[in-house]
Amino acid sequence: MTDSFLTRRAALGLLAGTAAEAMWQGSGVAAPAAGPTSEVPYGAAISSYALQDDPAYRAAVATYCQVIVPESEMKWDDLHRNRGEYHFENADRIADFARQHHLALRGHTLAWYGAMPEWVNTISTAAEAERELTGHIHTVVSRYRGLVSSWDVVNEPIPDKPVGVTDLRPFVWSRFLEEDYIPIAFRAAAAADPKAMLVLNEYDIEYVGARFRARRDALRHIVRRLLDRNVPLHAVGLQAHLYADRAIDRDGLQAFVSELKGWGLKILITELDVIDDTLPGPEQARDAAVAAKADDFLEAVFAACRPETIITWGLSDRYTWVPTYNKRADGRLNRPLPLDDAMKPKPLMAVIDRYRRRAA
Ligand code: G3I
Repeated sequence: MTDSFLTRRAALGLLAGTAAEAMWQGSGVAAPAAGPTSEVPYGAAISSYALQDDPAYRAAVATYCQVIVPESEMKWDDLHRNRGEYHFENADRIADFARQHHLALRGHTLAWYGAMPEWVNTISTAAEAERELTGHIHTVVSRYRGLVSSWDVVNEPIPDKPVGVTDLRPFVWSRFLEEDYIPIAFRAAAAADPKAMLVLNEYDIEYVGARFRARRDALRHIVRRLLDRNVPLHAVGLQAHLYADRAIDRDGLQAFVSELKGWGLKILITELDVIDDTLPGPEQARDAAVAAKADDFLEAVFAACRPETIITWGLSDRYTWVPTYNKRADGRLNRPLPLDDAMKPKPLMAVIDRYRRRAA
């Protein structure tokens, strides 16, 4: 581990101020005493399988992370794969690890078009849809009350290429409940755990271009509608799956984040990684380009706010979703994350560490 990266325990001693307290609120773990400066908590999406089978990965998570989030284990197709049946063993494995290592825990995700089990396609009325959605949220959020400090209540409500600000992604909940599925989900989550931070999470709002401006406009519209209806929305999650060949819209992103902050919302960076399949092969240059892209993004966000957390979507290149859709043509491993496949920190980890420590 690089000496420039504080060990988790040393970092915990520095966590202070509203950002850290907000992250620890409801986590069931006493917030560390306020230190001289409040560091932004860093963490990663975690796989229960890797946690179980890979001691080096387990040690790296315990060393580098202050907060973790299940990559898949709290999704419907994992814990609610059959109607009326819940299977929490995979999610509990990650929750237990968080408790054992005094890590904050995020919940992901309660209402998403992805990772949905087949049985939801048998839902046939709005009343049935609302019953199943609220029942799921009540059951899952109640189970982790006092441990999960923040939930991605609604994930990716906007289509890839929205046609106007009111365009919603079609899937079971929007099909029967239209835009009301979003307030219904947030209100159900707040009823199940009044102390959890409730987050609306979205991707592809970071870049230059009409398509991404349209996504920011659509997300802004959803947020404004929720706030105007007094829906318990506390934060917006910027997924930040950054494509190496796309330019960050620094001004557009900074203005967008400033506006959300002005509305009283907190900001989380929830799924940061850099998709590097378009970059030249040699690892050293590629790692530098990945770090530079993240720096570009973090500079724009930190110019507007101090995010509640910086979470990468995975910790090590040994376990990343990126090759699922962005495998490199040259056959080399993708290198999107802060640790390489040998659990060694890369320049991206140093960039994250630099932003985490920016004085409040
Ligand atoms: O757990 C099963 C295992 O039992 C089975 O043998 C195996 C083969 O079928 O599948 C395993 O489940 C897979 C799961 O990841 C756990 O590895 C699913 O098939 C696979 O679809 C799932 O992919 C995840 C995907 O979301 C869908 O849930 C990715 O790992 C995960 O990185 C990705 O994460 C999403 C965020 O939730 C939302 N933002 C975008 C991000 C990347 O797509």
